[in-house]
Amino acid sequence: MQYENILSENENGITTITVNRPSKLNALNKATIGELHEAFKAANNDEAIKVIIITGSGEKAFVAGADISEFANFSVENGGKLAAKGQELLFDFVENLSTPVIAAVNGFALGGGLELAMAAHFRLASDNAKMGLPEVSLGVIPGYGGTQRLPQLVGKGRAMEMVMTAGMIDANTAKDYGLVNHVVTQEELMPLALKIASKIMRNSSVAISKAINAVNANFKDGVNGFETEIEEFGNCFGTEDFKEGTTAFLEKRKADFPGK
Ligand code: COA
Repeated sequence: MQYENILSENENGITTITVNRPSKLNALNKATIGELHEAFKAANNDEAIKVIIITGSGEKAFVAGADISEFANFSVENGGKLAAKGQELLFDFVENLSTPVIAAVNGFALGGGLELAMAAHFRLASDNAKMGLPEVSLGVIPGYGGTQRLPQLVGKGRAMEMVMTAGMIDANTAKDYGLVNHVVTQEELMPLALKIASKIMRNSSVAISKAINAVNANFKDGVNGFETEIEEFGNCFGTEDFKEGTTAFLEKRKADFPGK
């Protein structure tokens, strides 16, 4: 599929999706969110793809937020719809994909940009990255899951301070907060993402998708995560990957997972 606002490249079982509007610091307009939805869906549905990396184009920004020019004149109703549609198409969608998603945060990740990074399964950052939820400085609140995922990742007090001050934190503070797992130079960022991706790919993709579901269950209303874990644990016993993984261990060889 031909995209105008993003790039999507498959190589060695990894899809790298790059938000590609550098002149607007990769701000997420409606068209970009639609294209991201399609690209994530295609990668997730492709059995050959085992990891998805999301990053931003250029050296300055991951994503500098939702495109402010698009919603500046919205009504109450349109504002609500904007948040609901965005969450459905991109943020909840990404979090619930069965393929692991790594965010490589290569610069500003603000508002919807940080919300996109937080919807990924985990995050790496370059040392120039700056992260924040500046929405209250615009008279609005985060609408793409930021008020929920930021406290999950950094704790309520830190999230409240970040939201209320609308300030930015640097990459090392984000690491201290547990918002990103690793901080490296900008040159090292994609190699690190690819290295972690290749480590993930050695394991059972079926088990990983069940693990994502079980971990996510912890954060879902009305869902008992322990029960989800028990169910998914049991389901693993019916997979070819489980047979291969346990057989390989007993035969003292490396597992060659069929991904089924
Ligand atoms: N929506 C729309 N356009 C955006 C944008 C956004 N969220 N963030 C940046 N841009 C555009 C700017 O309008 C500018 O476009 P122009 O050249 O046509 O005027 C271009 O990207 C470059 O941004 P600029 O502000 O000139 O860069 P800077 O280095 O001076 O500042 C930021 C960088 C990130 C501090 C600043 O762009 C910013 O505060 N952006 C908005 C962040 C935000 O509030 N996000 C949450 C939205 S809910």
